[in-house]
Amino acid sequence: MARLRKAARMWRDPEKRALAARVLVAEDGPLYADGPLYAIDPERLFGRRAPLEVELGAGRGDFIIEYAAQRPERDFLAVELAASVARVLAIRAARRGLDNLRVARMDARTLVNLMLPARSLSACHVYFPDPWLTLSQQKHRMFSPGFARRLRRVLAPGAMVHVASDVEPYAGEMFAMLEGAGLRRVNAAAPGAHASGFGRKYLAQGKAVFSASFAVA
Ligand SMILES: C[S@@+](CC[C@H](N)C(=O)[O-])C[C@H]1O[C@@H](n2cnc3c(N)ncnc32)[C@H](O)[C@@H]1O
Repeated sequence: MARLRKAARMWRDPEKRALAARVLVAEDGPLYADGPLYAIDPERLFGRRAPLEVELGAGRGDFIIEYAAQRPERDFLAVELAASVARVLAIRAARRGLDNLRVARMDARTLVNLMLPARSLSACHVYFPDPWLTLSQQKHRMFSPGFARRLRRVLAPGAMVHVASDVEPYAGEMFAMLEGAGLRRVNAAAPGAHASGFGRKYLAQGKAVFSASFAVA
């Protein structure tokens, strides 16, 4: 609650809202004057053609902000569903003054299922997606076999998917869904598994993290 109140306070500050507007993808109007609302054109969003990586469920951006800062030659889209969290993420990202990072407040499933062009991503990062542990809540999970298939559709040749969870059964299910969608598990570290906000917390607590990386087969 305290965090939510702090986020709301930050959002009431006109200067911080103006700052965040530099990186926030518009939610309430056409993205492009002459284009459909529901398509993202990475080249127009960033004003250049560069490899595009997304983080789905980016939280406060601990991973993606640093990762993008170290890779100015690539573009990054951070996607976060919770409005209050996305706003904090946008303010933090804008403060870093990065030209290669944008924030979209939306459901990652909408982005992947409907908005990204086929073969547009060179990497996708998903760190500690909400596991929704009870059976009746599992419909809220980001990952499903259908989601994994549609994610495969938007991956470019040679693209990577990096996934981590602290919940071993959910991690195993996500890994199986990605393999079921035709991706190949590879021997590479998931870069955010210990660098995202939750990853750092679990590392400090000595809690087990189950992570894997996948490539387009
Ligand atoms: C457990 S947190 C992990 C945040 C971050 N990845 C990290 O490792 O620190 C999960 C985040 O995913 C967001 N989220 C949940 N479902 C989502 C969805 N369908 N699309 C986008 N974000 C989602 C939540 O709001 C929350 O911020």
